[in-house]
Amino acid sequence: MTTTLGHPLAERRRTAAGTHGAVTATLGPMASPISGGRLDGVDLEALARRVPTPFYAYSATTLDARIDALQSATESHGIAVRYAAKANATLALLQRIAEAGFGADIVSIGELERCLRAGIPADRIVYSGVGKTTVDIATALAAGVECLNVESLDELQTIERIAEASNRPVRVAARINPDVDAGSHAKISTGRAEDKFGVSPAEARAWFAREQASPLVRLDGLHVHIGSQNLDLAPFHRAFAQVAQFARELATLGHPIASIDVGGGLGVAYRDGQRPPGIAEYMDTVRTALSGFSGRILIEPGRWLVADAGVLVTRVIRVKNTGTRRFLILDAAMNDFARPSLYDAWHAIAPLTPRDGTPLPHDIVGPVCETGDTFARDRLLPPCHTGDLVLIHGAGAYGTSMSSNYNTRPRIAEVLLQDGRYAIIRRRQTFDELIAGEQPARHWESA
Ligand code: LLP
Repeated sequence: MTTTLGHPLAERRRTAAGTHGAVTATLGPMASPISGGRLDGVDLEALARRVPTPFYAYSATTLDARIDALQSATESHGIAVRYAAKANATLALLQRIAEAGFGADIVSIGELERCLRAGIPADRIVYSGVGKTTVDIATALAAGVECLNVESLDELQTIERIAEASNRPVRVAARINPDVDAGSHAKISTGRAEDKFGVSPAEARAWFAREQASPLVRLDGLHVHIGSQNLDLAPFHRAFAQVAQFARELATLGHPIASIDVGGGLGVAYRDGQRPPGIAEYMDTVRTALSGFSGRILIEPGRWLVADAGVLVTRVIRVKNTGTRRFLILDAAMNDFARPSLYDAWHAIAPLTPRDGTPLPHDIVGPVCETGDTFARDRLLPPCHTGDLVLIHGAGAYGTSMSSNYNTRPRIAEVLLQDGRYAIIRRRQTFDELIAGEQPARHWESA
């Protein structure tokens, strides 16, 4: 039986897992609900005979449970959800998220295009990022996005120029860097003064005070995002309270703030012992820190919605014992799932059907030609044989969305599962698709 999350969501998740059972404690409290070799009622062994490994499999039931939990935690308080599409922007998943009425937080025109195609209306799309080009900004204005989260004066001035030239109105929010350390991995912390994100309240104050160069640009929002996979509420509270205080100050200076967007960042438990706050506690923190603020509140969760819904289904290609190390070589690699290589991220990894025998330490690696292509070291696993299916859990967020073609490996398939049935939502890329756009240097021109 599963370990509990210690908050009401645990109950919802168990309900969502339904008759398909729940994960064993060894896989971590939030790992995907697999039992009897089934995920969302689908026999993964049978599925892997139809869909070549490696592939991502997502439980629609788990995703829906997350969506429901977030809806009930936000709707009654009038808080708007803008899903951070970067966590997983596969169209079929975006569509499900769109159907829930959530909007999106995007960081590129590619993500804008995906979200629009998935049915998320432009007026529910906020656009973040430190390096929007003039083309990006013009495209976002033409689409009529809800808000641009602005990260520098130069960007604000560019937006004003483009709004004037195209005669398109736009709302903008100043992204505040609160100089708060979220305590997460250094590569995904964004709220410290040395990080490239946002501007100090002092700089933002000057933006509000300056003569706007275009009446079409309405600067009346604040935005903050201090990092990802945050397991502690205290830094959130410090950052949000600082922004709320700043909003009060701006109001007294004659600049009423219409919206505060508190970003994303709520972590999940990838392993036993990690105790992320529940969604209810997180929402309490948002509301407490922003109490007294009467404008609109937005949140941008990414990982929390999708991480737990996905597993990477992979097969053992080879077991290699060097005398000092026992390597389990999988058919998935760092190009398919980069988190362990990039952030030393810990993910539960286990054979789908454990064999009898004493568990031994394994280095779990992919076939890519670099030592960084390692999913785990010294991981205790029962004996594994060539051909066995192995699952990498918690792979729904920042899995497919960060995958690449490194080593000329095709992007892998993605499959959505629900109540014993499955649908391919992305088929494996073909070699021709992979090299499409490449050509020999036949036509040389002068620039
Ligand atoms: N809003 C903004 C402005 C963001 O930059 C991000 C994530 C989010 C929302 C969503 O954060 P989430 O709720 O997913 O934590 N590739 C890394 C994570 C990078 C997160 C970047 N920004 C990983 O695999 O851990």
